[in-house]
Amino acid sequence: MTAKHRVQIFDTTLRDGEQAPGINLNREEKLQLALQLAKMKVDVIEAGFPAASPGDFEAVKLVADRVKGPVIAALARTRHEDIEAAASAVRGAEKPRIHTFIATSPVHMEHKLKMTRDQVLEEVRRAVAYARTFVDDVEFSAEDASRSDPEFLAEVFRTAADNGASTLNIPDTVGYAVPEEFGAFVRGIIDATGRPGITWSVHCHNDLGMAVANSMAAVRAGASQVECTMNGIGERAGNASLEETVMALRTRSDSYGCETGIDTTRLFSMSSQVSRMTGFPVPPNKAVVGANAFAHEAGIHQHGVLCNKATYEIMSPEDVGAPGSRLVLGKHSGKHAFRQRIEEMGLFLSDEKLSEAMTLFKELCDRKEIVTAEDLEAMINTEILAAAESRRIVLRSFLVQVGKGHGTATVTLEDDGREATDAATGNGPVDAAYRAIRRIVGMEPELETYTINSVTEASDAIGEARVTLSFEGLRVTGRGASTDVIEASIKAYIDGINRLLQKAAVKGVRLYGKNVG
Ligand code: KIV
Ligand code: ZN
Repeated sequence: MTAKHRVQIFDTTLRDGEQAPGINLNREEKLQLALQLAKMKVDVIEAGFPAASPGDFEAVKLVADRVKGPVIAALARTRHEDIEAAASAVRGAEKPRIHTFIATSPVHMEHKLKMTRDQVLEEVRRAVAYARTFVDDVEFSAEDASRSDPEFLAEVFRTAADNGASTLNIPDTVGYAVPEEFGAFVRGIIDATGRPGITWSVHCHNDLGMAVANSMAAVRAGASQVECTMNGIGERAGNASLEETVMALRTRSDSYGCETGIDTTRLFSMSSQVSRMTGFPVPPNKAVVGANAFAHEAGIHQHGVLCNKATYEIMSPEDVGAPGSRLVLGKHSGKHAFRQRIEEMGLFLSDEKLSEAMTLFKELCDRKEIVTAEDLEAMINTEILAAAESRRIVLRSFLVQVGKGHGTATVTLEDDGREATDAATGNGPVDAAYRAIRRIVGMEPELETYTINSVTEASDAIGEARVTLSFEGLRVTGRGASTDVIEASIKAYIDGINRLLQKAAVKGVRLYGKNVG
């Protein structure tokens, strides 16, 4: 048997994924996802863009200090201050990487950078050499590479390599490429650059739905690192999906002759964790991790699968860790068993948070007949992780009365030890409660979306509410979970307001000054 070529998986869920409109992860959430990514054995975690904001810097630093195993990368433009911020954020990492980039396509150079080719080459030389003064591992990306002049691009890459970059990335930034063309383009650039020993990487966006196909074509053409995100989240139509790329390389290793180091049995839980934390649902027909990815409805298919799974299944649900998720824990389970089960679910909590989770679990056991792993995960995500830094205002109590077409709500909130109560009417209990909350906090955020989903099927299932709020140019997603859908809805709204306050604080905007207490 011939040895398989190892493809490195560079996960950018926490950076490019988090750039998707409406996604905002706090530090604790990013840390949890990074710990899970490390368990799943990704090769590189791009933890963020430290120069973007103090919050981004702190999140990258936390991941770099705490997550061992993968390379921890931080993104930086070619500016000095970006590179210094990236270097300082990843200083504590076991394997730090600075990832610097500049655009190389005519349209970007002329209209965005307003730079000539020579100026861009000078930026590349200076930035890569400066990054190398801090770390040995420097990656350089040519933004919008797929729409760049190949000869110039090769010159840019030679400059980066000659100044110490060991990974060169060819992004299809705007998702313009098509597979055959992109494969040939990548091969041409590798040959024209002519620097052996470089790790060639690709980073494909999904504007035409071809991000994974383009990445696969690039692998065939010689790329040995693929940049991707869980569930394909990212700017606009997103990035190449990690789970699809990994399973395509594995399932068709006969054709590509490649392998990755990913523990694929963690893909399913990783995907649901990302979906819960970002508030971006996984469509049922999503390849590899959708609820229907391994469901067989048609009689002929069911018969075939019963005779032999290979008739209609090219991968098995076990390969990707698709669930069977009854939680074999009860009210009387000890802390040790509880921690073990939580870790199997992919959550890595401090002692303090584990105790909070256990209290939550015991409360849930009192309210629900069967507590599933999904129930517990939803409650931990919304009550512990999401609340870790954004919780400033807390729901103390509420009372609603419902009539046909209208509702009345009385809500008590607490902010910094001070309580405030107000009441309002609305066209239903949730509307009334939201009005009461707005009166208390003295803010009028616009409710752009409101959804409520049940985590499992039973009538006592946990309801998970999500709201998108916008206010003075800021936009956030708030989440809340409870066995009571009105409580879940109220918590989601308060979570949204807390996130708005936190974002405003980071940006120095004053939103809130009235009347709590
Ligand atoms: O899409 C892109 O070009 C990027 C680069 C910063 C790698 O995200
Ligand atoms: Zn990108």
